[in-house]
Amino acid sequence: MIPRKRIDIGCADLASGLLGCVAPGNTTAMRHAIESTWDTRASFACLSVRSGLDALLAVLALPVGSEILISAVNIADIPRIIEAHGLVAVAVDIDMQTLTVSPATLERACTARTRAVLLAHLFGSRMPMQGVVDFCNKNKYLLIEGCAQAYTGDAWRGERAADVSLFSFGPVKPATALGGAVLSFRDAALRDRVRAHVARWPMQSRAAYFLRLSKYLVLAPFGNYFVFGALASLCRLLGSTHEKLVSGAARGFAGSDFFVRIRQQPSAPLLQLLRRRLAQGEQSSALRRIERSRLLQRLLGAQCVGRQGREHKHWIFPIVHSDRDALIRHLAKRGFDAAVSASSLGVIGSPPGAMPTSDATQTFSQLLYLPAHEGMSESDIRQLAASVAAFN
Ligand SMILES: Cc1ncc(COP(=O)(O)O)c(C=O)c1O
Repeated sequence: MIPRKRIDIGCADLASGLLGCVAPGNTTAMRHAIESTWDTRASFACLSVRSGLDALLAVLALPVGSEILISAVNIADIPRIIEAHGLVAVAVDIDMQTLTVSPATLERACTARTRAVLLAHLFGSRMPMQGVVDFCNKNKYLLIEGCAQAYTGDAWRGERAADVSLFSFGPVKPATALGGAVLSFRDAALRDRVRAHVARWPMQSRAAYFLRLSKYLVLAPFGNYFVFGALASLCRLLGSTHEKLVSGAARGFAGSDFFVRIRQQPSAPLLQLLRRRLAQGEQSSALRRIERSRLLQRLLGAQCVGRQGREHKHWIFPIVHSDRDALIRHLAKRGFDAAVSASSLGVIGSPPGAMPTSDATQTFSQLLYLPAHEGMSESDIRQLAASVAAFN
């Protein structure tokens, strides 16, 4: 069975990370090496995007009840962090064909309490930001840009006019270091304040990072179609599904004590592996994934979410179908692991009275993710498209 997603890290990277956990390493030097080469804007390397956002909001200390406009499609931890700072996350609708948020939508959603806008580039697309930048400048809102899904290892560093751009290197991301994030700031003084805030947090333990690397080393064989298929069959035999195992394995901060877990500094071995991954640049695997996804998009046409998205790098491949559960079962019988949840993304609820997020909500009620990655051959993609078409 072809798994829905591949963890984008090789055994050599994992071995290098594991070695880093037992070798001496200097956090300050590693951090400097990343930050001095990442961007022409001021950069800051931290444990995760969620950690960086938490620190940023602590430093900004916006008045309680201030509103932040966020993309309606997001990970649930983003509003959770915003609310933990006494702020209100107001979800704004997304055009699910182009994966953009229009300035007109932002205009309708803002109130006298709005202070910032946090928009994510979704599913691997990179939305044009000029209209959003103009809207934020006009209203003097801070613009935070979520780039977690759109990095591929190339030279793209997000929108230069954004106040803060957030890049993640968590487990399911391209060029992953199984953790880590880099934030780019327009204002170096704000970066320095975030850095000073994070410096008070405890350091991630080397043992914890070692365990994380070991877990993914153990999981590596499941990228193999045969082994993955055997796991799925075994789960079925036991009266369960592989769904829980797969989504649990990809979660970065599972378990209790969420804020204790995100409020840590990255360890030296994590920074060392992150530096190694960044230095590798755009890998042929990323280009292959994009090429395979473009082919699948051409073959499937109208069913693809975000098919008019500009500069699409296809991190994951969502489509819509009115009977998605039956389609998932149909594809499983033909050896394709499609799923309703390939990531922890969903539609974010808004406070009462906020604008409805109808396009995002409607699309997500029918959305499923197809496997479309570098491990698949062109013939796999054609068979997948034919299997979807046969079901339609
Ligand atoms: C839009 C968005 N923001 C934030 C995150 C979280 O990144 P991290 O795991 O580095 O906290 C993700 C992860 O998928 C994401 O997609």
